[in-house]
Amino acid sequence: MEKRMRELETLLTKYNYEYHVLDNPSISDHEYDQLFHELLDLEEKHPELKSDTSPTTRVGGVVLDKFEKVSHETAMLSLSNAFNEEDLRAFNDRIEKAVGKVEYMCELKIDGLAVSLLYNDGKLIQGATRGDGTVGENITANLKTIHAIPLTTNLTEQFEVRGEAYMPKSAFEKLNKVREENNQQVFQNPRNAAAGSLRQLDTSLTSKRHLSIFLYGTTRPEILNVNSQSAALDKLDELGFKTNQERAVKKDIDGVIEYVNYWVEHRNDLPYEIDGIVIKVNDLKLQEEIGYTVRSPKWATAYKFPAEEAKTKILDIELTVGRTGVITPTAILEPVRVAGTTVSRASLHNHELIEEKDIRINDTVIIHKAGDIIPEVVRVVYEERSDQEVYEAPTTCPSCGHEAVKLDEEVAIRCINPTCPAQIVEDIIHFASRGAMNIDGLGEKFVHQLYDAELIKDVADLYTLEKEKLVKLERVGEKKATNLLSAIENSKSQPLQKLLFGLGIRFLGQKASRLIAEEYLTMDNVMEKTKDELIEIPEIGEVIADSIVTYTSNDDFKHLIEKLKAENVNMTEEVEENESNQFDGMTFVLTGKLVEMTRNEAKEKIELNGGKVTSSVSNNTDVVVAGSDAGSKLDRARELEITVWSEQDLLERLGG
Ligand code: IVH
Repeated sequence: MEKRMRELETLLTKYNYEYHVLDNPSISDHEYDQLFHELLDLEEKHPELKSDTSPTTRVGGVVLDKFEKVSHETAMLSLSNAFNEEDLRAFNDRIEKAVGKVEYMCELKIDGLAVSLLYNDGKLIQGATRGDGTVGENITANLKTIHAIPLTTNLTEQFEVRGEAYMPKSAFEKLNKVREENNQQVFQNPRNAAAGSLRQLDTSLTSKRHLSIFLYGTTRPEILNVNSQSAALDKLDELGFKTNQERAVKKDIDGVIEYVNYWVEHRNDLPYEIDGIVIKVNDLKLQEEIGYTVRSPKWATAYKFPAEEAKTKILDIELTVGRTGVITPTAILEPVRVAGTTVSRASLHNHELIEEKDIRINDTVIIHKAGDIIPEVVRVVYEERSDQEVYEAPTTCPSCGHEAVKLDEEVAIRCINPTCPAQIVEDIIHFASRGAMNIDGLGEKFVHQLYDAELIKDVADLYTLEKEKLVKLERVGEKKATNLLSAIENSKSQPLQKLLFGLGIRFLGQKASRLIAEEYLTMDNVMEKTKDELIEIPEIGEVIADSIVTYTSNDDFKHLIEKLKAENVNMTEEVEENESNQFDGMTFVLTGKLVEMTRNEAKEKIELNGGKVTSSVSNNTDVVVAGSDAGSKLDRARELEITVWSEQDLLERLGG
């Protein structure tokens, strides 16, 4: 039995590698599935024989409550940028000045998410995000669902590989299609989709997102026994890692520039997105000689592609009314492909901009994607203009017909009718959004549909929705209605901070909502506060305080709160109490390996006792808690004569 299980693991690992790394499968999907299910069955019958690196672990199923923080042994740096040939030549001049003529390794800069994979004893033991470069998040369970990541390898020493996790364009398009059909917000680009997928607490969701990875380096190349980046990549290939095969060694900067120009033309032919070319000094010894700045290696740079432009025509200018009544113009375009997607709309931001650029309906325009994401009109091609009329800013609201005004010092034109339907719908969309009451499945289109069917007139009406009425709506089945009602029911227990934010009080953002909720604990308390009381909370300024008082003293608002209360919507905030204030005002640094608790637990404990934890030792540090194998931070603490505690010292103060 055990023999067959090990045999199946080996076979499946091999077939998985052929399919996902080599892109060259030797058996059919069906045959693979059969073997996979055979192993699953055996593991179910004999859980004690299941290996922790079994290919079946890739389906996910682990549900986390949060991601633990992990410190990177070697910081995950970023790269300096080059935007044109001149920048590339300047980079080369700096290198030549330091070490003379060099060879360069050119790699595609994958537009995904930097991750670190830690292997020990031939097994993947940890996978993490980059985070701020020093501390990232432990996403091991999520990364294990990526089939291109080997769970085992032949190298037994501990080593770390780094690479870019990404979502292939095809997976991205399919995902967004499904999300659109389900009225869920679509992802802006494959990078956001990959990031969102890797941050799923339920890893079975991650496993359905079809992510992949390209590995591009290791923190200790000496383990690989190589002396160049190109040899390191070849070695990673041999070890079973997926590296990008589109790469080239160039003997001088002219070769690099030629390579870069080739990809400027061909980047859209790839099945995944790239945002540039990474250029690295190939020789590893020379890399060390050239060295690093605090942020990035001096031996590498990233050439960033220029924003792609395209020519098209403005068919119309559409006006939409936002939550605060601002009327925003959007250009409706003759569909055109730019930077990998078809664009048919571009934000015009505000009417001042239209005037400034003299944009008119039927104009031929040049568009691009700002930050490679948001389509914008760059300029009008005046040579192609004939008799287009000047575009006039609206004087009435396109939703309710009420007067639209431009307030002093504002660029925006606003509808000032408080009962404007467009604004109400936007209010409800905001109320249901993720950062607010988080009503899953209640997206923009669905809110419009409910409002148009006169089932809701304000946010409180959401809590009175009935299934019988919902199922009568177009495209709403039994399942969708049930899901919506249960999501609405769940939202009733959201803490006060979410409700406050969801109510759309102007200027009151998520952070200020949290501070206020944590200070006053109930909605009734908040509603009693005067402006002077509110600004006593550090970080709450006059503008926010004024706005809160204006809203909470308004009768319509009071009435809305009463309606929500009647529907049993939670109006309170629970604050985690501090265990003590023995560490009030003290700053701690944790270093080395802790035994009794994780670093994160230690941090939480210190904070619950009033202390603060930072990552680097300085004159502001009060205590360094040093576990075993503490390194440079401990040296620095001794140098600065800072108090050092052992883990045991800390535990004693925390009362065991
Ligand atoms: S080398 C010391 N090579 O670009 C930094 N980075 O700012 C070493 N990236 O998010 C990075 N493809 O994950 C390197 N072939 C490649 C890359 C690459 C994408 C990402 C990297 C990070 C950013 C660097």
